[in-house]
Amino acid sequence: MSKKMIAIDGPSGAGKSTTAKILARRLNYKYIDTGAMYRAVTLQALQKNIDFSAKKEIVNLANKLDIDFSFPDAEGKVKVYLEGKEVSDELRTAEVDKNVSEIASIPKVREIMLIKQRELAKTDSVVMDGRDIGSRVLPEADLKIYLTANLTTRAERRKEELHNRGEKLDLEKVKCDLNERDKKDQNRDHSPLTKAEDAIEVTTDNKTPQEVVEEICRLLEEEEEDG
Ligand code: DC
Repeated sequence: MSKKMIAIDGPSGAGKSTTAKILARRLNYKYIDTGAMYRAVTLQALQKNIDFSAKKEIVNLANKLDIDFSFPDAEGKVKVYLEGKEVSDELRTAEVDKNVSEIASIPKVREIMLIKQRELAKTDSVVMDGRDIGSRVLPEADLKIYLTANLTTRAERRKEELHNRGEKLDLEKVKCDLNERDKKDQNRDHSPLTKAEDAIEVTTDNKTPQEVVEEICRLLEEEEEDG
């Protein structure tokens, strides 16, 4: 089988990572969570008390980033390792949420991540999710999906995720934070969140993750038939 690349982009809470993990498990592809890479730089900057205006130090963290992802297990769970230590939960706190867009807007950080992301896609077939995968990181991807859902659905999902990690925030606050992060991700100068011209939009409102994965598998089959 030749190596394949599936790109999944879309706003926060659209269901990208849930979908991508199940899809990767089903196809036996590697799942690359590019948001986790920006989150990892953010986490390290917060842990080391590095001021976000100290661009050189942030770029240095990005350069040295030592991140790895496990293959999805039977439940679709993927472990993220930073310098060999599992940090899957630490990457998804409200504090990292709040700060990650600022780190992701630094052009030099994005350039470094772009190289690392392309490198990660070299060895295995991958499902890669993020904001600029179809438009910039993997423009040659075999299938590009743009995943969306309305703001309330997305905020409800994020609220539940935070709740399950012991962080209790009300829906309006989550909605406001999510909206703000999306605006920053869409309006930054360097590789903003956009739907690639050849991406197929898939909405996830009122669909189970399995239904979304089925839809994408059908699109993949069609793409393979079209050659
Ligand atoms: O998908 P996520 O919520 O884990 O992403 C975290 C942040 O990283 C998000 O606010 C936007 C940014 N990001 C990005 O700019 N480009 C990517 N390819 C992936 C994520």
